[in-house]
Amino acid sequence: MVTVLSPRPDLWTLDPDVLHLNHGSYGAVPRRTQEVMAALRAEAEANPMLWFRSVAERLAVSRLELAAYLSADPAGFALVPNASAGVTAALATLPIAAGSRIVLTNHAYGAVLYAAQRFARAHQAEVVVVDVPLEADDETIVSLIASALDGAAVLVVDQISSATARVFPIASLVEVCHSFGVPVVVDGAHAPGLIDAPAADGADFWTGNFHKWPAAPRATAGLVVAEKWRTATLPLIVSWSEHDERLPERFDMQGTYDYAPWIAAPTSLRVLEELQWPVRRSQLSGLLDEGARLVAKALGTGVAEVGQPAATMRLVELPSSVDLTAAEALKAFVSRELKAEITLTGFDGRGFIRLSAHAYNSLQDYEKLSERLPTVLA
Ligand SMILES: Cc1ncc(COP(=O)(O)O)c(C=O)c1O
Repeated sequence: MVTVLSPRPDLWTLDPDVLHLNHGSYGAVPRRTQEVMAALRAEAEANPMLWFRSVAERLAVSRLELAAYLSADPAGFALVPNASAGVTAALATLPIAAGSRIVLTNHAYGAVLYAAQRFARAHQAEVVVVDVPLEADDETIVSLIASALDGAAVLVVDQISSATARVFPIASLVEVCHSFGVPVVVDGAHAPGLIDAPAADGADFWTGNFHKWPAAPRATAGLVVAEKWRTATLPLIVSWSEHDERLPERFDMQGTYDYAPWIAAPTSLRVLEELQWPVRRSQLSGLLDEGARLVAKALGTGVAEVGQPAATMRLVELPSSVDLTAAEALKAFVSRELKAEITLTGFDGRGFIRLSAHAYNSLQDYEKLSERLPTVLA
């Protein structure tokens, strides 16, 4: 018999008067990790010289634990501050010939599209955006992307998209890209904690955030680099480890920087373990199915069909009366007046509320949102 795990808001320090339904954007750090990080910073302030002398060794320990969490080869795993930095470092490494194409899909994260545009400009290459329908199945996704690979310098693809919260078939995409000789950069920003062994599909570069679903301190992310690119891949900041031949060590020391989050991050992995994360994740998925249905019913809309949805995020359709160009103002209004944190996304002319669930959420959160939202979104 499977036990239903109880919500554990007590492990976080989130304001209990607010409905926290958007873990997917910036995560939330458990109390215990915050305490470890505060102790590390206190140590740094007690003797900065001693602290900085100790950092390299502590980072090495932390890095090994984070790589093991992903089941990644530690020799190809580097710490980066966020997925944006991981994608940027990957695009800075790959050869992009003039006249070639950087291929993405219309699900790509906006800032990642900007990165592709910057590198395309620098190399006189072109950005090609492949339209993938929201409901597309894996086979359709692979064949749509395959049709854009001729002459491509690289495919940059989400493992779990932000605006549409869907899982992409990375193993098949890597296989088809490599058959065309096209390298693949996987934007796995949401993958750690949601997909087991997320970097195991043979992509040339994979990056993902520990500060989302594994609830690590912010600015903790990983870059996994395939063996053939490890020598060429450089950190974005040129510092003293510039000439270190080992990829992870080259990325460890980024000048004078706050290393406490990277050192404290494994504490969050231990919190997840105690929360029985894999079992909890599937229970959260069920909770969110129910919660999203409640919210959709209250708004008179539906839960979007998105092919394969991410375990802990769902899209609820916004009423057609909602003007998405005012999304920022609407989110601020919902936050201030309804005491609810949600995010709004747009895709292909349609607007959605993207709801998240983490260990601190319960069905009551979605019930309360269903009661409050129609007052502004009816
Ligand atoms: C799919 C995707 N890619 C990239 C990012 C950027 O992550 P970061 O802000 O940590 O660089 C996000 C952030 O939400 C994301 O959802």
